[in-house]
Amino acid sequence: MRVGILTGGGDCPGLNAVIRAVVRKGETVYGDTLVGFLDAWDGVREQRTMPLNVASLRGMLPRGGTLLGTRRGSPYDHPQGLEQVQAAFADMQLDALIVIGGNGSLSVASKLYDDLRLPVVGVPKTIDNDVVGTDVTFGFNTAVQIATDAIDRLHTTAESHDRVMVVEVMGRHSGWIATHAGIAGGATAILIPEHPFDIDEVCELLRRRHERGRYASIVVVAEGAEPKEGSMRARDKVYDQFGHVRLGGVAETIANAIEDRTGFETRMVLLGHIQRGGTPTAFDRVLSTRYGVAAIDAVHQHAWGSMVALRAGDVVNVPLAETVGKTRRVDMHLYHEVAEVFFG
Ligand code: F6P
Repeated sequence: MRVGILTGGGDCPGLNAVIRAVVRKGETVYGDTLVGFLDAWDGVREQRTMPLNVASLRGMLPRGGTLLGTRRGSPYDHPQGLEQVQAAFADMQLDALIVIGGNGSLSVASKLYDDLRLPVVGVPKTIDNDVVGTDVTFGFNTAVQIATDAIDRLHTTAESHDRVMVVEVMGRHSGWIATHAGIAGGATAILIPEHPFDIDEVCELLRRRHERGRYASIVVVAEGAEPKEGSMRARDKVYDQFGHVRLGGVAETIANAIEDRTGFETRMVLLGHIQRGGTPTAFDRVLSTRYGVAAIDAVHQHAWGSMVALRAGDVVNVPLAETVGKTRRVDMHLYHEVAEVFFG
């Protein structure tokens, strides 16, 4: 078969490992020809490609980012977009397309399957871990490890100066990274989009901690965390050209509010894109490899309109339609019954 591959949306550790696994099994087991589309859907519309083979992917397993390049956006943003995608399939005699992406790219893949019956298979990617239908996306484990390493480092400087540190991690609509890194890093409080925070309650936690003689604290906040209505002024929302809310900076507002209300010296750290860069953890290398192998198997099973997913330890196929328009939220049992036990 001739199989195309694209990576869409924000980059993520493990993308190259997925591509490598698809190519390895596709070429050596199935005798496929693999074609990489450059810059996500733009590369499909414009037929910009690179050949992918086992030899050209040597050394890519531990490499961060994506060798294919990535962009946001979809063929539906362009008047001729769908015709261009169909033309690419016909001109290049493609039998299938593997779409490695997050909620945005997987929704586009699902729509193309519904509208054109395009033979697509999805692979769920994002450090945010917010794709419905899978227990975990690849890239998440690496981002949590990076955030946890940063929190570990911040503990010692916070303790030396008796300071409060507010650490902002990624997570637009879901606080998975904040919750996991906060638990792993021993945070005093974890603020996530799923549970609007009351700044006075956060300050009270910090005051009580100080009364017990603990003068340094780490507050982990997801970039999408919002204050409870009326408890603190919420930020004005800024959107990018694709209508995604552009976040970053809530930690500064929170750090200022904590210092004003408690008088405790407070600093903030914004981890930003460091969480998306660099080599994947061993867990993500294995998960990406399993996803890549499962994706090329799904192609040969003609499982069109499906996505590979991890369910209770097994890699399975689920309909893409199950994920569309949804966001996987933090397990609130984990937040309330585990994380909160250690607050304060
Ligand atoms: O979707 C993953 C993500 O890392 C979000 O957590 C974050 O808000 C966003 O991407 C930022 O992406 P960019 O700056 O590349 O638009």
